[in-house]
Amino acid sequence: MANSVNPEDLEILPSPLLAVLNDLHSQYKSLNEGTLANYIPELAKVNPDLFSICIATVDGKIYQVGDYQQTFTIQSISKVFAYGLALEDHGRDYILTRVGVEPTGDAFNAIILDEPSKRPYNPMVNAGAIAITSLIKGSGPTERLNRVLEMFQRYTGQDALVDISVFTSERSTGHRNRAMAHLMLNFGMIDHNIEEALDLYFQQCAVMVNCPDLAVMAATLANKGINPVTGKQAVNNLYIKDILSVMYTCGMYNFAGEWAYKIGFPAKSGVCGGIMAVVPRKMGIAVFSPLLDVRGNSVRGVKVCEELSQRLQLHLFECSGED
Ligand code: DON
Repeated sequence: MANSVNPEDLEILPSPLLAVLNDLHSQYKSLNEGTLANYIPELAKVNPDLFSICIATVDGKIYQVGDYQQTFTIQSISKVFAYGLALEDHGRDYILTRVGVEPTGDAFNAIILDEPSKRPYNPMVNAGAIAITSLIKGSGPTERLNRVLEMFQRYTGQDALVDISVFTSERSTGHRNRAMAHLMLNFGMIDHNIEEALDLYFQQCAVMVNCPDLAVMAATLANKGINPVTGKQAVNNLYIKDILSVMYTCGMYNFAGEWAYKIGFPAKSGVCGGIMAVVPRKMGIAVFSPLLDVRGNSVRGVKVCEELSQRLQLHLFECSGED
């Protein structure tokens, strides 16, 4: 993601964008509330001070501040992209029979299925994401993993690599996710080969990205599925509205309602401390800061997105600005 920032290229936005990002970075770098994810040692030992903010516009410009070269594992943000791939593999109607689109109001790792359908509530909580990943097509685990990695490469324009130590840690400690998979197997909502589905889920969560990668991935979703830097189609435009609707209503877990109300554009967070947000037809926003609030969302990430929404008038239902 080597694009250099050209301050001349800021005319599409109401204020000099890089200056806004620098301002927000200075404003929030001293905010040290929250805790690191600690369910695996790899996440617990991350430097809590790391902080980067990045915006990629739909015309391929990238604005980045802070520790933007720092890589981290994508974690739950991967659920968005796996959902798109499963939609491409099976179509909307079939996917809807396997995983719903209702927000839960519960934690992302709640062991809960919809009654009476027995579907997981939505693809952004763990149960739904595991069911979605189990539907990704391929002749065996290697082909399925390769399809997932190729998908990430289309979105970032970079090679996709799995952090093996995070993957193996997730696999050896992921008993709650395993319990959900068994529950869904019990109700016939997931294929019998649950260890393979869980492996692919843990691998997709352990794919390494940096903040500009996430911003370009978000900008791709804002840009009809076309990566604005490479010009390549990453996901069929037919499914952008499905992906963004579910991100909007379910992407921030049991904070999704307040997020939609206050901030007002689709987003997805992960326990890595990343938040990826999409302003349709305009830009992708990414924030990385590993200290999390009680719902698992980056504390600084939520604040930065809230300020960006207000300062740039990005709320989707904003009516007070000029057309
Ligand atoms: O399923 C898990 O436990 C993780 N690999 C992903 C968790 C995650 O990022 C949920 N988000 N807040």
